[in-house]
Amino acid sequence: KLMKVFVTRRIPQEGMKILTTAGGCEVSLWDSDEPVPRADLLKGVQGAHGILCLLSDKIDAEVLDAAGPNLKVISTLSVGFDHLALDEIKKRGIRVGYTPDVLTDATAELTVALLLATARRLPEGVEEVKNGGWSSWKPLWLCGYGLSGSTVGVIGLGRIGMAIARRLMPFGVKRLLYSGRTAKANAAEVNGEFVSLDTLVSESDFIVVSCSLTPETQGLCDKAFFSKMKNTAIFVNSSRGAVVNQEDLYEALTSGQIAAAGLDVTTPEPLPTNHPLLTLKNCVVLPHIGSATYSTRGVMGALSAQNLLGGLQGTDMPSELTF
Ligand code: GLV
Ligand code: GLV
Repeated sequence: KLMKVFVTRRIPQEGMKILTTAGGCEVSLWDSDEPVPRADLLKGVQGAHGILCLLSDKIDAEVLDAAGPNLKVISTLSVGFDHLALDEIKKRGIRVGYTPDVLTDATAELTVALLLATARRLPEGVEEVKNGGWSSWKPLWLCGYGLSGSTVGVIGLGRIGMAIARRLMPFGVKRLLYSGRTAKANAAEVNGEFVSLDTLVSESDFIVVSCSLTPETQGLCDKAFFSKMKNTAIFVNSSRGAVVNQEDLYEALTSGQIAAAGLDVTTPEPLPTNHPLLTLKNCVVLPHIGSATYSTRGVMGALSAQNLLGGLQGTDMPSELTF
């Protein structure tokens, strides 16, 4: 008997090829680059044994109930899993696959690029070249902040946070602070000092948010947080938008409380084009492209397909989430 699989979006061909050549699977694809509307998601999952989803698909009790008792596995094409209602999933004995590790390098690289682009004002510079604002070489023009001799604070020194820290150290960072639930043994590799969040926030010249979104970290970067930052400090987030209170960030950026912010993640996504943050020169916003290299997305596609097949067959999944 064929196992029914619902794939919520066009995914890299490396993944589709694995699913369609596996045999034993009847694959139903939401054949679009745009998100599946909720009603179509609820219809599409009916009777499914497996769902391959993205971080933009909310998988909650309603979706699980719509799928029904066949559902064995949810495979998400992401390392983040805050879009999955894990308590409901666990109750129903459903397994979950995700894509850690394979996107660590790409995401760390993008985060460093965003940090440098924000600190050295690259988007502003590019804009000035195009709009005629570049009148001459000017000693006081488009100055920003450099990493050399700086203190960097990483909130959440996990796989991605460590990969960011490793990439930043060669820029001449003087101190690398990190905060989180526990000290990390491998932090020694980057001379990381485990400190309280308060210490990290008040002493860092660059703050990089690289933690997962949980009830603990939701809204962590709020008015009180920004008010402790140096006026010359740069804030960078490549984890999840909801870790930040965006009204408070806007206030901090316009009042001169902090120097600039670089965001690869926002609430909501996409950020409406008339959002106040997009009017600010000292805020660089990217459209959640941390893992977006051709090769990384290909590997994520393949891994999510293999996770799904493992879940369907009741065998090992290459990257199963334990929860
Ligand atoms: C990206 O944000 C991911 O969770 O993979
Ligand atoms: C967080 O997403 C991590 O990989 O550490």
